[in-house]
Amino acid sequence: MSLTEATDGLLAPHIVTDLPGPRARVVIEQDERVCSPSLTRVYPLVVDHGEGTVLVDVDGNRFLDFNAGIAVNAAGHSHPEVNAAIHAQVDACLHYCSSDFYHPVHAEFCERLAATVPDGMGPSRVFLANSGTEAVEGALKLARHYTKRPNVIAFYGAFHGRSLGSLSLTSSKAKYRSGFGIVTPGSYHAPFAYDGELTGADYIEQVLFRRMTEPGDVAAIFVEPIQGEGGYIVPPAGWLQSLRDLCDRHGILLVMDEVQSGMGRTGAMWACEHDGVVPDIITAGKGLASGLPLAALIARDEIMQWAPGKHGSTFGGNPVACAAALATLDLVQRELAANATDRGEQLLVGMRELQQREPIITQVRGRGLMIGFDLVDHETAYAVEQACFERGLLVLTCGHRGIRLAPPLVVTAEQADTALSIIADACEAVRGGAPR
Ligand SMILES: Cc1ncc(COP(=O)(O)O)c(C=O)c1O
Repeated sequence: MSLTEATDGLLAPHIVTDLPGPRARVVIEQDERVCSPSLTRVYPLVVDHGEGTVLVDVDGNRFLDFNAGIAVNAAGHSHPEVNAAIHAQVDACLHYCSSDFYHPVHAEFCERLAATVPDGMGPSRVFLANSGTEAVEGALKLARHYTKRPNVIAFYGAFHGRSLGSLSLTSSKAKYRSGFGIVTPGSYHAPFAYDGELTGADYIEQVLFRRMTEPGDVAAIFVEPIQGEGGYIVPPAGWLQSLRDLCDRHGILLVMDEVQSGMGRTGAMWACEHDGVVPDIITAGKGLASGLPLAALIARDEIMQWAPGKHGSTFGGNPVACAAALATLDLVQRELAANATDRGEQLLVGMRELQQREPIITQVRGRGLMIGFDLVDHETAYAVEQACFERGLLVLTCGHRGIRLAPPLVVTAEQADTALSIIADACEAVRGGAPR
């Protein structure tokens, strides 16, 4: 049976061995001998190949992929249009340092991406990098360069990356910082939406500006329009706008970190568009090239004015990644953003119905294909994640006791229904109503 047939209906998940299976065990043993132990493997999935939303492991077990390589495979696995664009560019030229020379696909993708910015942002420029953390590092540099101010503000629960600059903004888990000494000085944090009485712009004005930093020293506020790693938390209407207003009052740049939420995942190209909030800078990554490493720093033309050599990257804007990104952008604009809206609504309604009858689910939230639900505690969230894996559904925890649903944007209605029934079964098993 071809994988395309397998993606139809309930056929997708099919577990044929113990997990991990015999071939997977060999790979895991090798990996554990030589790879950095800092890598967090949450369950023993050893990937062989995939198509659409279906992933097959090295032992032939078939899974429904609601991780998309952590919100990356926007067009799903092995999309024919993306693969054709990649193959054509591989045959033409693999690499020729976009920081020093010109490529048609590099210029074309930057132009297409700059044209996607939210209304009101105006003419924009693009710098291409390889990973989300690099895009955030670029935004840190650009914001300081433009404003000539030293400090930055981010939010508790945020994830912006793991290199030392972006790590200064990340505050989702203490272990990310512990043992690494001093991160970049001048980085302050405020509570994100729902994290206490005083959050966002109110906290920044009433606490940070009074006690920690004068607004005239702040270059930028970094915010995820939907907090990702921190729990797939959608702030209430008006919350992001109040940050925009605060920035306008004090000449601070608003940096929207759309690394996880962008590229159509929420049904709009950028998640901040749902709130009508216009950023000064956007950082993007993950889904941009459907799986090849590519990230972007997008800024208003007036802001991205720095001299040659001020910023660059050997691999950033690699032509093969740009070709994949152009094909992905075509798909997102043609059909995938619309599918994210429809399938997201289906999953949200389905999860809310499940919450009515499943006492271990305490909250359901999300936008498009960025859906989170909370379990009663951290251990239960972990147990549900594992139970889903054993049943052929790949999901990941987020926040303290949440699970995120972030499938490829090609997910079908049947696959969404299958995922919902597996989650229901997994929750029932974890609650003790059925064998695990
Ligand atoms: C919002 C956000 N920003 C930045 C990053 C860092 O991206 P990368 O892992 O590609 O460096 C992530 C990764 O999860 C993210 O979710």
